[in-house]
Amino acid sequence: MNAPKQLAVLASGNGSNLEAILADALPVALVITDRACNAAVIAGANHIPLTCIDREAFGYRPGGEWNREAFTDAVTRELTSYHIDLAAMAGFMTVLSPGIFKVYSHRVLNTHPSLLPAFPGDHAVRDALAAGVAVTGCTVHIATAELDRGPIIASAQVSVRAGDTQATLHERIKTAERQLYPQTIRKYLDQITAGE
Ligand code: GRF
Repeated sequence: MNAPKQLAVLASGNGSNLEAILADALPVALVITDRACNAAVIAGANHIPLTCIDREAFGYRPGGEWNREAFTDAVTRELTSYHIDLAAMAGFMTVLSPGIFKVYSHRVLNTHPSLLPAFPGDHAVRDALAAGVAVTGCTVHIATAELDRGPIIASAQVSVRAGDTQATLHERIKTAERQLYPQTIRKYLDQITAGE
């Protein structure tokens, strides 16, 4: 019988996707954050091992040069030290440098609040509203060195409503993500297990 797989969740923000992943009883063995955030509080409340790898300790400041490679190495080392099989980025707001995708090739997932390849980047909801699309949504994909461009494994559509603001639309997209992401992670973990 194959050993049970271990999942890590990487988060920076509110942590509602982390909460949904935990509520789905996925095997979360580690949460990594890059700053103080509500996701860290959720990890603590659920007694999940938590490591904050603060990007400011690596020289991060908005718009400035910083040591992204050393930060990414620290994240990778933490994943390997916990024997993590799959990492799920859930609102992790730091772009990781390519090294991690060599060590964890096809083993990092991301959820993005648009129907990729439309509206990649940090402002997906704002950009979808500005473009006037009638339908947007969320996409789960395998993360690669090319931001928001890795192979798509699942998506869900969300209608844009008259009068939507960035906040109302994002909240509806997040409702869809909280359904789609846990079930997609579970299927992916099962595939990894079956493939070994
Ligand atoms: C999600 O919409 C995710 O796609 C985006 O950030 C949001 C995270 O929400 N990258 P939460 O922190 O899980 O509530």
